[in-house]
Amino acid sequence: MKNKRAPASGGVRTVALAILAALLVVVSGAVQAAAGAAVSFNYKDALSKSIMFLEAQRSGKLPPNNRIKWRGDSGMEDGKLAHVDLTGGYYDAGDNVKYGLPLAFTVTTLAWTALAFKPELQAAGELNNVHAAIRWGTDYFLKCAAKKNHMYVQVGDPNLDHQCWVRPENMNTPRTLYEIDDKTPGTEIAAETAAALAASSLVFRDTDKGYSRRLLNKAKLLYQFGRSHMKTYDGECPFYCSYSGYNDELLWAATWLYMATKRQAYADFISHEAISSSVAEFSWDLKYPGAQVLLADLNMTANGGLQSFKTQADNFVCAVLPDTPFHQVFITPGGMIHLRDGANTQYVTGTAFLFVVYSDILLRSGQQVMCGSQPIPPARLKEFAKQQIDYLLGANPRGRSYVVGFGVNPPTQPHHRGASTPVLKPGTVVNCGMSFGDWFAPDRPNPNELTGAIMGGPDGNDEFVDKRNASSCTEPCTYINSLSIGPLAALAVRGNDLVASQ
Ligand SMILES: *[C@@H]1O[C@H](CO)[C@@H](O)[C@H](O)[C@H]1NC(C)=O
Ligand SMILES: *[C@@H]1O[C@H](CO)[C@@H](O)[C@H](O)[C@H]1NC(C)=O
Repeated sequence: MKNKRAPASGGVRTVALAILAALLVVVSGAVQAAAGAAVSFNYKDALSKSIMFLEAQRSGKLPPNNRIKWRGDSGMEDGKLAHVDLTGGYYDAGDNVKYGLPLAFTVTTLAWTALAFKPELQAAGELNNVHAAIRWGTDYFLKCAAKKNHMYVQVGDPNLDHQCWVRPENMNTPRTLYEIDDKTPGTEIAAETAAALAASSLVFRDTDKGYSRRLLNKAKLLYQFGRSHMKTYDGECPFYCSYSGYNDELLWAATWLYMATKRQAYADFISHEAISSSVAEFSWDLKYPGAQVLLADLNMTANGGLQSFKTQADNFVCAVLPDTPFHQVFITPGGMIHLRDGANTQYVTGTAFLFVVYSDILLRSGQQVMCGSQPIPPARLKEFAKQQIDYLLGANPRGRSYVVGFGVNPPTQPHHRGASTPVLKPGTVVNCGMSFGDWFAPDRPNPNELTGAIMGGPDGNDEFVDKRNASSCTEPCTYINSLSIGPLAALAVRGNDLVASQ
C-alpha cells in the first residue's frame, strides 16, 4: 500500500535542505559539465513509446487498433453497481483503480501538450495518437459527469484492489463507485475535470466541432458546481489526498475556461477573486505554476495582474534552477529534481514541460525570467529541461534508462499488475491470496513489456532499485508520462537547442 504523495510540508523546503542543495549544486554542475552539451538520444523513439504507455493503461473495451498485444478488454462492468456505464478511462498506475483527480490532470496536461506542441507532434506523426489518448479520457469524463451537480470520481475500492495482484482483464475485486454531489462536493475534482474538458475542447475545436462544444458545456457546468459548493472531497484519501486545497484548481480551471470562451466572467474571477501563490512544484496536486505560465502568456489584465502572474511564473523557475539565489528545490548529485520519493519523476517531466512552454512564450515576447535582479535567458530554461529529460533517458550517474523498453539497461520489473502477470484466459478466476506469491514476489523480469513507462525513479541519491516491490522506484503513473510528451516531441523535432522554428 502506498500513498501517491507523502504528506507534504508544502512547496517550501527547510533552510537545512536549501543549504544542502546549495552544496550539491557544485557537484551537479560538475556532472553536467562532464556529461557535456552533446548528449543526445533517440527522442522520437522515446516520444512514441511514452504515448504507448498511456495506451497500456486503458480501461474498457479496447479498439481494434490497440497496439498493446498483452492488453484486453477490462472493467467492462464499471458503473453497473449504479446501473450506469462508466467503462473506459485509465488505470492510474500499477493498480487497477480509476482515480478521478490525477486522471483529470493527466488529460489537462495532454490537451495542453496537443495545443503547445502541435507542429512537433504532427511532424513526428504522433498528433493523432495524442488526440486519441485525450479522447479516451474525455469520453469517460462525459459518462462520469452525465448528470448536473454530480460526478462519479472513482471506480474501484483501492484497499481491496491493493490486496490482489491481478491484471485488470481478470480482476474480481469490488468496482466500488465514488461520487460527488451537492451534499458531498469536491471542488478540486470538479475544477480539474473542468480544466481537462475546457482544454480538450480547444484541441478538438477544428476537427470535431460538436464534440468540442459538448466538452466545453460540461466544463462550464463542472466549474460552476465546483465554485458554488466549495469543499474538498477527501474520498480519494489516503491515496490521492489534496494537500494543496482547491484554490489552484479553481485558478487553473478558470484560466482554461477563459482561453476556451474568452468570457469576461472568467477573467474577472482570475483578476479579482482567485487566489494565486508562488510555489516550487507542478504536479497532480498543485497547478499554480501551470496557470501562471498560461496567464503570463495571455497578458490579459492591463492593470498589473499580468505582472503578478509573470512574476509568479518567474518565481517557479527561480525556485527550481540551481543557479539562482532563490532556488529551493533539491537537485540530486546527478542533477535530477527530487521533491519526494514515489512518482518523483512527475516533478522532473512536469518541470521540463513548463520550462519548454514558458521559454517559448518568453522568446516570442522578447522577455526573460527575472530572479530578483538576475535575468535568466529562455535558453537556460531549455537547457535545464533537456537535462531533466536526458537524465531519465540515460544521462545519469548509473548510465541507465528509467523508461521501460528504451535505451541502455531499461527497468525490467515495473510495479504494475498487468505487466507482471501472464496473459490469462478471459474468465480465469484468480486467487488473490496466491497472486502475490505467484506474480508479485518472484525476482524476475515482468513477462509483458510496459513499453514507454517512465518509472517513479531514483531516490535523492540517484539510487534506483529495479524490483517490483520497490514501488517508489518502479511504479509508473499516467501523469508522469503525459508531462513528458511535449518535451520529448520538442527534442525530437526541434533538436537539442529546443528552439522552435519560425
Ligand atoms: C501586456 O501587459 C502590459 C502591461 O500590463 C502591456 O503594456 C502590454 O501591452 C500587454 N501586451 C499585450 C500583447 O497585450
Ligand atoms: C523485494 O524483493 C526482493 C526480490 O525481488 C527481495 O530480495 C527483497 O527482500 C524484497 N524486499 C522487501 C522489502 O520485501
